[in-house]
Amino acid sequence: MKKGIWVILMLAAVVIYVSGCDKKGATVKEPQDEETNLMNANKESFGKTPDGKQVFLYTLTNANGTRARIMDYGAILVSLEVPDKDGNVSDITLGYDTLDEYVKNNSPYLGATVGRYANRIGGAKFVLNGVEYKLAANDGNNHLHGGVKGFDKVVWKAEDLSADSDMAMVKLGYVSEDGEEGYPGNLACSVTYTLTKDDELKISYQAETDKTTIVNLTHHSYFNLAGQGTSDILSHELMLTADKYTPVDEGLIPTGEIRSVKDTPMDFTKPMAIGSRIEQVPGGYDHNYVLNSGDISMSLCAKVYEPTSGRVMEIYSVEPGIQFYSGNFLDGSITGKAGKVYQKHYGFCLETQHFPDSPNKPDFLSVVLNPGRKYTTETVHKFYTK
Ligand code: BGC
Repeated sequence: MKKGIWVILMLAAVVIYVSGCDKKGATVKEPQDEETNLMNANKESFGKTPDGKQVFLYTLTNANGTRARIMDYGAILVSLEVPDKDGNVSDITLGYDTLDEYVKNNSPYLGATVGRYANRIGGAKFVLNGVEYKLAANDGNNHLHGGVKGFDKVVWKAEDLSADSDMAMVKLGYVSEDGEEGYPGNLACSVTYTLTKDDELKISYQAETDKTTIVNLTHHSYFNLAGQGTSDILSHELMLTADKYTPVDEGLIPTGEIRSVKDTPMDFTKPMAIGSRIEQVPGGYDHNYVLNSGDISMSLCAKVYEPTSGRVMEIYSVEPGIQFYSGNFLDGSITGKAGKVYQKHYGFCLETQHFPDSPNKPDFLSVVLNPGRKYTTETVHKFYTK
């Protein structure tokens, strides 16, 4: 063979090799990618857990530039980039840049899927069909957000990834074993994130059990519509479709009372800046609101407007309650994405849910799931600007 032909063959081999290499920030194609046939969604490696489990990051995008990144560790929403009124896209959720930080920093549920029971269960115990179940006590004597190793700290399985022509979606599954964190029954659950072309992030949950148990799943993003890490959220205007809330004791366990918000700093029935009356609420907002809709149909629960960016977020859900948490325990000790330091009130959470401590409050709606029944719930975050 002539020397020139050899040179051409060698060059071609180099080009093929280089284009197959991982570039920093580029999508790492795994063998499974071929099988999943994703539309508008990408999968890349996000590192390994300390016990060697591979973690993947899924990116959902739409034509408006909105982008949601979800990882299978904790079914966590790692980032959510949304345009402002001038079309500039910013990340509006708090989080970390690396898996290692999520794992090691005892993340306060940044972006997490929370379960098996979101929020608190008083005394870390409950009685079901005459049997007392003791749960992990990880918040003083109480049980918080599923215990020591809740659904936010396990690797979920991307059991199905699909998308139709105008939606990007990722479905994550997890089987929580009988006795995990003290709960009865093997619980097979899934959470599906869908990004629509209209800038809605839908989060749908399903669960089935083989033994009577309790379930209450939620999503725990800390939002800052001005852009994550840029400022506190006190000038965000919040509206909640809730005339009532559930007052709590010093351990943040509902007393059982359902109280009107009228003429109190708890009233967000009309849009109000979060900071306008926060000083009058000891410790800041960390309360379950009783949604006017009840739990039967998908209804507007909350609307948040951030004046400088013009971003608006609306939340719709079928759940009967929403926890409004004003990031009171953020204290500057977390350095999050892009080196931003998360000071007090740098993010807010709006967690759709059944009421805290329902298993011990006979007057609250039931959170019991029986074998043969399917738990389903859905929450939609809709974004636009004004
Ligand atoms: C709770 C807070 C808690 C935070 C982080 C929120 O859902 O309402 O009391 O500090 O989660 O754990």
